[in-house]
Amino acid sequence: MRNDSPKHRRHTCVICMGPACQLKGARDVLAKAKNAHGLKPVTVECLGACAMAPAAAVDGLVLANLGPDWVAQVDEAYSMTTSS
Ligand code: FES
Repeated sequence: MRNDSPKHRRHTCVICMGPACQLKGARDVLAKAKNAHGLKPVTVECLGACAMAPAAAVDGLVLANLGPDWVAQVDEAYSMTTSS
């Protein structure tokens, strides 16, 4: 049986690997995304949010100033939107 609930489906995940984001830890952001369940990251050269680097986009929503626990925060946000 396939589970297609929003929490378990694959989410699009774009990680910015541009210069500003690399200076602010984009490699760590990418590593976290690669290890996260449900994310299959791709990289781009710039998401247009350089002033708020490092940045990523999940399901089209740009996320910026990503910290070390950004994947957990995204996962929690999706859990909250699907729990009610
Ligand atoms: S370099 Fe990452 S948003 Fe521009």
